Amino acid sequence: MSYKHQAASIIAAALTRLGADQFTAETVYDMLETPPNPSMGDIAFPCFQLAKALRKAPPLIASELAGEVSGTPIREVKAVGPYLNLFLDQQSVARDVIGTILTQGSAYGSRDIGKGRNVPIDLSSPNIAKPFSMGHLRSTVIGNAIANILEKHGYRPIRINHLGDWGTQFGKLIVAYKLWGDEEKVKAEPIKELLQLYVRFHEEAEKDPSLEDQGREWFKKLEDGDEEARRLWQWFRDESLKEFMKIYDLMGVRFDSFHGEAFYNDKMDRVVAMLEEQGLLTESEGALVVNLDEYDMPPCLIKKSDGATLYATRDLAAALYRNETYDFAKALYVVGNEQRLHFQQLFKVLEKMGFEWAKEMYHIPFGMMLKDGKKMSTRKGKVVLLEEVLAQAIEDVLNVIREKNPSLENKEEVARQVGVGAVIFHDLKNYRLNDINFSWEEMLTFEGETGPYVQYTHARACSLLRKGEYVPISEVTLPEGALDSKEAWAVITLLNSFPEVIDRAREQFDPSQIGKYVIDLAQAFNKFYANVRILAEEADVKTTRLQLVAAVVTVLKEGLRLLGIAAPEEM
Ligand code: ARG
Repeated sequence: MSYKHQAASIIAAALTRLGADQFTAETVYDMLETPPNPSMGDIAFPCFQLAKALRKAPPLIASELAGEVSGTPIREVKAVGPYLNLFLDQQSVARDVIGTILTQGSAYGSRDIGKGRNVPIDLSSPNIAKPFSMGHLRSTVIGNAIANILEKHGYRPIRINHLGDWGTQFGKLIVAYKLWGDEEKVKAEPIKELLQLYVRFHEEAEKDPSLEDQGREWFKKLEDGDEEARRLWQWFRDESLKEFMKIYDLMGVRFDSFHGEAFYNDKMDRVVAMLEEQGLLTESEGALVVNLDEYDMPPCLIKKSDGATLYATRDLAAALYRNETYDFAKALYVVGNEQRLHFQQLFKVLEKMGFEWAKEMYHIPFGMMLKDGKKMSTRKGKVVLLEEVLAQAIEDVLNVIREKNPSLENKEEVARQVGVGAVIFHDLKNYRLNDINFSWEEMLTFEGETGPYVQYTHARACSLLRKGEYVPISEVTLPEGALDSKEAWAVITLLNSFPEVIDRAREQFDPSQIGKYVIDLAQAFNKFYANVRILAEEADVKTTRLQLVAAVVTVLKEGLRLLGIAAPEEM
């Protein structure tokens, strides 16, 4: 239990004795503040909200409470106006926190509230034959981090890559390939070549509209299982996926399922029949829709007038499939904010179908990646290939390493970990709904709020442990004066709050809580390191300070791991 929780329990018990038992430890916890100045105490408890329940003025309540509140880790209490200020026994808190981390190791902050229950997470989900966009990158890193965080709390995340591998565009692509395609070129650079074929199709179709009809025909053939159509489609899919896999391998992201839209081709009739049976389908201009007027939403399109199914139809089938296959605790969709309406409609349709579990489905939206204030697009020809961004980041880091640490052994691997970490961190330090401005400088410097900065701090701490010949022991003896600096206390309070930060990140599906946290911890540690002697100290003091360093290493590494970022021990 964190010291804040301990203090909250003590205060809640005192309040019960004073006759206000409606204030539980949890409510008290939420009311706790940090005094503006450490000389005023470590924790402040404002008494305004108690006035009504106790029918007394807040300053009187504070002074009455002062006589009732005591117990570890509280050393002293003072009523100051309407506030009750608590001074902690910092040494006992330090011993507790460091001891817990050294004993639990990477399991520090783990919980079992998920009880092994499944949480399918729809993430990444790029479109076959199109470039992997910045939006797909965001979905990949945010979704992967949320999966790690849920797993830390005992859930079983199931990472599903809902590939965009179905739809009329594949009919068009087949037509374009048959007319102008070149097998060798597609094999050499699949995405680039297929994209060009797709672009050319649209250019030519402006002159010759019959191409559109051919495209529709070929998609129909594909849906009906035509052998040639199927073979070409499979080939495009395989080649594209090979490209995407390079990116996933570089980033170290794994999936449990690659069931994309095509997988639901034979599972949509059933959904349409269910909707029909429940009388939920209405006709609108020849198309079949589910009316959502009562929610002030436009209708959800289920079938076009030519009988073709849609994105939403496939998502309905996928939702049923996921519920039946995984019996999920929650189902998440990490998809850009521009699809907000789509998911609202999807969830409402499922609700209208009477599925209770629809309440546990969440769209987790995120903002855009901007460059110079504009959307980074994959428009004709001018493709910002993510693979190139990653390659560039890795190369830049490799150059820095060659210059600064030429004797480092596995330079390439470390450069990959740091380059990729930089790209991931650049995203995850921001609240997901905010737009991000893509900036090389901001991403790659080893100072400031970057991934490399946190990784570098971790590596420095590791090297300190090596130089100090630290031998892991979890018993903290804490000799006089070993950890009494304000710099040490700042590190300890942060270490202590790691579990709470993970709680918040999980509750709000918000990895940036952890992104900001590891920066704070890295900064606090660097201040400690700059102001407190470690290696030149007497043996017992040195050991205790190294124990603090070891705890920082453990927590930084685990924080980075939750974000999907490696923590090399040397760089
Ligand atoms: N492929 C889609 C796109 O790129 C994203 C799919 C998101 N997942 C889903 N189940 N709809 O826009």
